[in-house]
Amino acid sequence: MTTLDLPSRVHATLVTDRRELAPGVVLLELDAPELAAATLPGQFVMAIPPSGEAAATALGVYEAEMRRASLLFFITGKRTRELAELHVGERLDVLGPLGNGFDLSGSPRHVAIVAGGVGIASVLLPAQALIRAGARVQLFYGARTAALLVEAQRFADAGCEVALSTDDGTAGYHGYVTDLLERSRKHDVVLACGPSPMLRAVARVAAQIGVRAQLSLEETFACGVGGCWGCVVPIVRTSAQAPSFPPASEGGSDVVNARICKEGPVFWNDELRW
Ligand SMILES: Cc1cc2nc3c(=O)[nH]c(=O)nc-3n(C[C@H](O)[C@H](O)[C@H](O)COP(=O)(O)OP(=O)(O)OC[C@H]3O[C@@H](n4cnc5c(N)ncnc54)[C@H](O)[C@@H]3O)c2cc1C
Ligand code: FES
Repeated sequence: MTTLDLPSRVHATLVTDRRELAPGVVLLELDAPELAAATLPGQFVMAIPPSGEAAATALGVYEAEMRRASLLFFITGKRTRELAELHVGERLDVLGPLGNGFDLSGSPRHVAIVAGGVGIASVLLPAQALIRAGARVQLFYGARTAALLVEAQRFADAGCEVALSTDDGTAGYHGYVTDLLERSRKHDVVLACGPSPMLRAVARVAAQIGVRAQLSLEETFACGVGGCWGCVVPIVRTSAQAPSFPPASEGGSDVVNARICKEGPVFWNDELRW
């Protein structure tokens, strides 16, 4: 994956719409023309809660078109609770776009996208870009229960074939979303975003069916911009995303840690040592 050198800065955005998609799941639409224009599929922002009492939180950019960018998030703690209390007309500062997103080069014809839970927030932009480029995109989307399967219709309207799963069987296939991937026809590439156990399962299934996968790792970020090294993951030295430190033979280390916020959040499955 190539490192993208894009302008990221703090954007003062205005909330133009706020919708509760499910209990505890909020979609904030922002008037943010520069952010919308600069964001590439799979990139994220650090959203800065207005009171300044809570730290910034990493959120994928869900939609980005014309003047409009939107953030889709689950209320899990202090930061997302404060963001959820924003109303239409209020200001939200966001730093971004940040990180390296999905690599959509190589003109794949058949693409599987696997989303688990909040992972759905980071995969609409790549799905739209791939469909625009002529790919056939199948979305495998899993959640704990039917009420938390948000925006599935949005993906169908965008041209994806959608397959759903729930852990409790209240909608779609009863079981893990990766079971659906395992049974699917062969794809050229798999893109995935979701909790770590799901991503590990995607990596295993992708290896089994002989296809590469790009995994967008979820991690709690502190700085989000590569400064604190608090979000590292070991990767192979040959990865294009490996920071250029000297090897052990030259006084360095053979263990190469990449910062998920800076070199990621998206990595190829065969580049990760986890
Ligand atoms: C690149 C990136 C993009 C992200 N995009 C989104 C997004 O678009 N929408 C969204 O809802 N969230 C997203 N997240 C996750 C979000 O940043 C975290 O959940 C964040 O910690 C929420 O802050 P908080 O203060 O509200 O909750 P916290 O107090 O940080 O966490 C509350 C509870 O949730 C658990 N938790 C924290 N982080 C995670 C996680 N990543 N996965 C599972 N459980 C967790 C904690 O263990 C704790 O019990 C993203 C994370 C990354 C790294
Ligand atoms: S969160 Fe600080 S380096 Fe990644």
